[in-house]
Amino acid sequence: MNRPTDRYRELAARYGTPLYVYDLDLVDEGHRALAGAVPEGVELYYAFKANPHPGVARALREDGERPCRAEISSPGELDSALAAGYTAAECLYTGPGKTASELEYAIGRGVRIFSVESYTDLQHVGAAALRLGAVARCLLRVNSAGAKAATTGIRMMGKPSQFGIDSETLPELMPLLTSVPGTEVVGAHFFTMSNAVDEAGLVGEFERTVVSAVQLAEEVGLPLELLDIGGGFSSPYAVPGERAEYPKLASELERILDLHLPEWRSGTPQLAVESGRYLVGGSGFLVSGVVNVKDSRGNRFVILDAGINTLGGLSGLGRLLPAAVQLDGEEPEQRASLVGPLCTPGDSLGRDVQLPELAPGDVVVVPNVGAYGVSASLLGFLSRPAPVEVLVRGGEVVSATRLELVRTEATGAAEVAAR
Ligand SMILES: Cc1ncc(COP(=O)(O)O)c(C=O)c1O
Repeated sequence: MNRPTDRYRELAARYGTPLYVYDLDLVDEGHRALAGAVPEGVELYYAFKANPHPGVARALREDGERPCRAEISSPGELDSALAAGYTAAECLYTGPGKTASELEYAIGRGVRIFSVESYTDLQHVGAAALRLGAVARCLLRVNSAGAKAATTGIRMMGKPSQFGIDSETLPELMPLLTSVPGTEVVGAHFFTMSNAVDEAGLVGEFERTVVSAVQLAEEVGLPLELLDIGGGFSSPYAVPGERAEYPKLASELERILDLHLPEWRSGTPQLAVESGRYLVGGSGFLVSGVVNVKDSRGNRFVILDAGINTLGGLSGLGRLLPAAVQLDGEEPEQRASLVGPLCTPGDSLGRDVQLPELAPGDVVVVPNVGAYGVSASLLGFLSRPAPVEVLVRGGEVVSATRLELVRTEATGAAEVAAR
């Protein structure tokens, strides 16, 4: 591994550890990579769940030639998007469990495009829109039947799921779906997989999505004003490495779209893709201090001040973290378990990790954690403070902030409804 560069050491000395550093120049790099991987004219949506930090999100809207729009899933993500300069009209609100209060919050702030995951979800959106005298433009999220298993990545559709409307039910449901007061169904949303390393697999996935959308448009009248074909763009997570490259994807997608949706270049339908990790994963580094090094029955444990409360990696979902630390060119001198400070054996960031010789007071850097870092962590667990998040641009610190969980007096359901 490498020892952290002086830059990280300086930041650690200045702000303390654990510390996240997001490099906005690298956010721009991810943005350019995605823009280069999909044809011009296809809208790019930034999935705020990857990293809702407004400074990161702002860079994706304001910098570069193809400003991102916002894919959001909660009032908090909406607040972040608005704080980052996105207009409500640029937001697509998604999620399988949208509550009445959050829908009213979103519609009240001007959000009009919603992805709906079921007939009842659509009714909930419609009811909230009616209460506010609005009409919500809805995309039907489709869970395609028989979607072929992709070779790599995390498959999210084609099986029983809380996400999307089972495509085989659409013929029967369509008349109901298109007559919900307060809503207008304007398109479709597919998000079939995440993290597809293999370009051919990703192309195949998009082709199946487009074919399926066109078939449903022809056979059951699925409206296609806006067609969000999802994502799946891959980037390493918490281990060294580069984001996947998709050199043929743009031309392959153009071929697929020209074939199946010949009017797409003039915006019929308007096409969109979504990404979180590909845009921002590579921009983030977790700088963590070594608190202790301990040997136990022939195994070494390097105990950091960052655990799954700081880099959770969706650990609540039972996904094992394969975290490693950045080596920066140095030869590894030992293998050890990289663990956090929490009182649970689950607080493990990586087993059998290659490390340099480390002692208390040293600092290590985990790369590629710009996505699914702080906000995907067990922030409240064991009541430790959240890490500082530092934004840098051109090597200079632009901002340093820290999320804080604060216990306040609960005033009841009305408070929730107001929010
Ligand atoms: C609907 C939707 N959009 C976008 C994303 C972002 O995925 P990724 O960060 O892999 O691009 C997800 C992730 O689960 C998702 O469910």
